[in-house]
Amino acid sequence: MNFKKEKIYKNIDNEYLVKDGVEKYDKVRFESEGGILLHRLEIETVLSFIRDRDKSNILDLGCGTGRISLHLAQNRHFVTSVDYSLEMLKKLLLKKAKSKLENIQCINGNIFQLPFKDNFFDIVVSMHVLMHLPEHEKALKEFIRVLKPGGLLIFDIRNKLSFHHLFYPLRILKKIFEGKDPWYVWYSNIKEIENLAFKNQCYLSNSIGRLIIKPNQRHRIFVYLLEKLEKLGPKNWYRNFGHLILIKLRKMN
Ligand SMILES: C[S@@+](CC[C@H](N)C(=O)[O-])C[C@H]1O[C@@H](n2cnc3c(N)ncnc32)[C@H](O)[C@@H]1O
Repeated sequence: MNFKKEKIYKNIDNEYLVKDGVEKYDKVRFESEGGILLHRLEIETVLSFIRDRDKSNILDLGCGTGRISLHLAQNRHFVTSVDYSLEMLKKLLLKKAKSKLENIQCINGNIFQLPFKDNFFDIVVSMHVLMHLPEHEKALKEFIRVLKPGGLLIFDIRNKLSFHHLFYPLRILKKIFEGKDPWYVWYSNIKEIENLAFKNQCYLSNSIGRLIIKPNQRHRIFVYLLEKLEKLGPKNWYRNFGHLILIKLRKMN
């Protein structure tokens, strides 16, 4: 794969999913104290999932402004970053230029119809994407198609057992009353993921629940306490109620 030549393929016109705007995307989600914690824990977990893999050919799907892609590239992997939104990709290209990383290529494409042959990538990563897609199983099938046998698929789910799920109907109502389009969220659990994996030639290799409360836009005292809880280790009971569960699937040989 040629990483020297920068290419953005424009093949989709409309953009959706980032409803509060590309300009604010990083700032609102990942630049507050809680957002920084969320970002750090996700990166830590993704990197721990691929610790045994060196210089892999990685596909980051729905890469957004590239917060995951950049870390993977800094860890010497070759990264192909795909997103529907040209605006998001432009932000990634700016960050790429600043970082002087050569090992990322950006593709403006649709994750439901990837322009890659079967069994091509060692690892596919997709963070904060499947959870917003009503057709998540269709997307998952396409992700697995381009993954090599023995390859890893890493993504996150919103946890059906979390506090967030309890309050989801209230948040939907609030948005409707405010005249806004509610943001679709797919809540799932490990059993459902195991079944989905098995139906699609994969098995669950690891899962880690993170953050009992969504931290961005929380008061700093909450963020402090959440950070302390996170440090107590991955096997604590409250992880079952984590806001997010990070998932690692392995494609069967
Ligand atoms: C919530 S953002 C997550 C971005 C990034 N993965 C992160 O964790 O910060 C979801 C991203 O998925 C992209 N996306 C949504 N549907 C897509 C599709 N069908 N094809 C490609 N990208 C898509 C959006 O443009 C957006 O950048």
